[in-house]
Amino acid sequence: MTQTLTLRRPDDWHLHLRDGAMLAAVAPHSAQFGRAIIMPNLVPPVTTGAQAAAYRDRIRAALPAGAALDPQMTLYLTDTTDAADVVQAFRDGIIRAVKLYPAGATTNSASGVTDFPRVQPVLEAMAEAGVTLCVHGEVTDPTVDIFDREAVFIDRVLDPLRRRTPGLRVVMEHITTSDGVAYARAGGDDLAATITTHHLVINRNAILAGGIRPHYYCLPVAKRESHRLALREAASSGDARFFLGTDSAPHPDAAKLQPCGCAGCFTAPNTMSILAQVFEDEGALDRLEGFTALHGAAFYRLPANEDRITLTRRDAPAAYPAQIAAGSEVVTVFDPGFPLYWHLEDK
Ligand code: DOR
Ligand code: ZN
Repeated sequence: MTQTLTLRRPDDWHLHLRDGAMLAAVAPHSAQFGRAIIMPNLVPPVTTGAQAAAYRDRIRAALPAGAALDPQMTLYLTDTTDAADVVQAFRDGIIRAVKLYPAGATTNSASGVTDFPRVQPVLEAMAEAGVTLCVHGEVTDPTVDIFDREAVFIDRVLDPLRRRTPGLRVVMEHITTSDGVAYARAGGDDLAATITTHHLVINRNAILAGGIRPHYYCLPVAKRESHRLALREAASSGDARFFLGTDSAPHPDAAKLQPCGCAGCFTAPNTMSILAQVFEDEGALDRLEGFTALHGAAFYRLPANEDRITLTRRDAPAAYPAQIAAGSEVVTVFDPGFPLYWHLEDK
């Protein structure tokens, strides 16, 4: 029996497209999204409006003809970010947001913020101009257990930052805990949270039980099952504070399958098929459109996409490649561990 779901075209409010051969390989897999917030953690990072504009041009050139994707650029906040450049790039329509990585928290975050008092004037200028701050919410203190780093970040960094910067619009990126869900729920209209596809599917056992599985290693690292269930409840609740940010983060297999492998799950190719199954399992297919196409646009004060996509549930699972080629490398596609009966039509 087939079942059809027609949704407004989804947006991806957190995406890594990289550059060069990797960009060329992965961009077509996100072409079905209407808009995507593009992460700036290139090497070197995207730190100025001019660099963001040039990167946007490279992304557009890498997209196939007719792609829906409109890249929404971000700047990488550093200790030396120029507040005037941020505000100008925002007013010129070059950037949609600024990304805060605590220095050393994750892939290519070495240039991140080390000195919060130094960036306070930038945060205040952003609050005034209405520029959103997207936050990687993990402390980097080596004495804090990696599974506690999100909860500790909320107490030690995020809550004080929001209190001293009234009016700053903040997105807690890729929340992974019930603590993150609770904090987002307790905020006002200026706070929201993205949730990835993979954190709705895996808990930490996927990475560690029965052998170590590097393709499920990402940051923030997946937590215990109770947290995954809290994320599923939040995503499927209809609460507009929660929306999709896939954090699709491609790395060559050669960089993941190492004694010290990279963090990141590449979910762009099969995200919508996975999400439809997750929402079906939650009895919440009627809320998939809110999570993927309405809540994020509303937070970013943008109109929802007018065009539609179709997902069809068929008896035979959709086929996705296990890997894609990227130049001379391969990138493994996230395997959710269950068959994907929801087919995204006309990718
Ligand atoms: O797993 C992750 N991969 N988490 C991040 O925060 C960064 C990302 C990447 O750039 O690979
Ligand atoms: Zn990310």
